[in-house]
Amino acid sequence: MKFLITAGPTREPIDPVRYLSNRSSGKMGFALASAAEQAGHEVVLISGPVALPTPEGVQRIDVTTAEEMFNAVHTALPGTDIAILAAAVADFRPATVAVQKIKKQGAPQATQATLSIDLVPTRDILASLGAMQPRPFLLAGFAAETENLAANAQKKLHGKNSDFIIANAVNLPSTGFDSDENEVTIFSHAREPLALPKASKQAISSAIVELLVAVRTGGHERV
Ligand code: CTP
Repeated sequence: MKFLITAGPTREPIDPVRYLSNRSSGKMGFALASAAEQAGHEVVLISGPVALPTPEGVQRIDVTTAEEMFNAVHTALPGTDIAILAAAVADFRPATVAVQKIKKQGAPQATQATLSIDLVPTRDILASLGAMQPRPFLLAGFAAETENLAANAQKKLHGKNSDFIIANAVNLPSTGFDSDENEVTIFSHAREPLALPKASKQAISSAIVELLVAVRTGGHERV
């Protein structure tokens, strides 16, 4: 089977030396890519900027911005059987990118010490895949939450029309962004939520790959 996996953060430039980003390490997406490859599948891994080696046997495509990730996903999509979007894509980017480094413009007084940057929404990659008709592949997204995990995950499942949402709490030091461990609950439309207890990201990834392959092999309607 062909897996398409996204991983890591995106960077949205502000000016030539600054960007907006987030704390994603890419570890979960890379662990998923490795697990899928080890299970004998073809894997295309589309990654934002991370400090991780490419898992053996995996085809890696590096991108920087949300827009580049959107385009790379749609270009790599043909023939995909299972898409897992684990990237922490920026939801907003600066409306304009300054051509030159933004200057402080003199020592800021207390009253003028703020600077505003207008942000515009990026395109939602998961929702764009969920909206495809027909959609000949299984679709799984992630939900990184700091509160109301189940309710927020259900909202993303339905709102983005994903087959699965894999939800994890990112405010716990032991399972958060840079951790080697994770604890997830997998939400789908027709099944009870499946809680996978805390384990290494590698072990969690193997379980996720096994589940998705089994569902895909069984032919999926609404899972
Ligand atoms: N996602 C995406 N494209 C975006 C934003 C998010 O594909 N522009 C995907 C992520 O890869 C993930 C899922 O959507 O699979 C949920 O991401 P998350 O950041 O948890 O949710 P958001 O939709 O950004 O909502 P919020 O920030 O309000 O929680």
